Amino acid sequence: MTEPLTLAVPKGRVLKVLIPLLERAGVDARCLKLDDRRLVRESDDGRFRFLLLKPDDVPTYVEYGAADVGVSGKDMLLERRYDLYQPLDLGIGRCRLVVAARRGSVPPDVPRVATKYPGIARSHFARRGTQAELIIVQGSVELAPLVGLSHLIVDLVETGATLAENDLEERETICEVSSVVVANRSQFKLRRAEVEPLIERLRAVAAAAR
Ligand code: PRP
Repeated sequence: MTEPLTLAVPKGRVLKVLIPLLERAGVDARCLKLDDRRLVRESDDGRFRFLLLKPDDVPTYVEYGAADVGVSGKDMLLERRYDLYQPLDLGIGRCRLVVAARRGSVPPDVPRVATKYPGIARSHFARRGTQAELIIVQGSVELAPLVGLSHLIVDLVETGATLAENDLEERETICEVSSVVVANRSQFKLRRAEVEPLIERLRAVAAAAR
């Protein structure tokens, strides 16, 4: 019996839409629906092992070969350089990276910008020819302008509800974000016979879902 193929999947919002996609692609993903705290789960048919990760950690596990394949937001792939094969955009987890501020506020010439994406924010303001002081935070980024920590934020927006409910407004879109399949380069070659058909099935169901 061959080793199960190890898939790194993101816990949270994206997993909910990823599970039906995996199932339509023929992956037995029932174990991902169980409400328990296990971080490693194996499909009943023994073909797949799933690692349940914080979304930001998926590329790291795949790059180092702890997982063969994974599903990661493009945001993380833009933020840090990973040596990964990126064969497929699944078109799920759609959102965008934006610059936002308090409604009606006028930022100073050198604004403080709170973000967990310092790399993306730095290149965005450099492209604009604007100086900015970056303040790194890990979550609830929308709080920063409300309490004077920053003038601007760079963060993800999906429905816009978090911005609206915190009296913030979008000022610029930096880029669109969605979830993509990433694969470890050497595992992709070694296990091509399993990985390639999986990617092709995912490509077909993702296209049908658009
Ligand atoms: C993300 C993002 C925004 C929010 C946007 O945060 O950082 O805060 O979702 O979604 P919306 O436009 O639909 O309101 P998440 O909920 O993942 O938690 P975090 O703030 O801890 O990063």
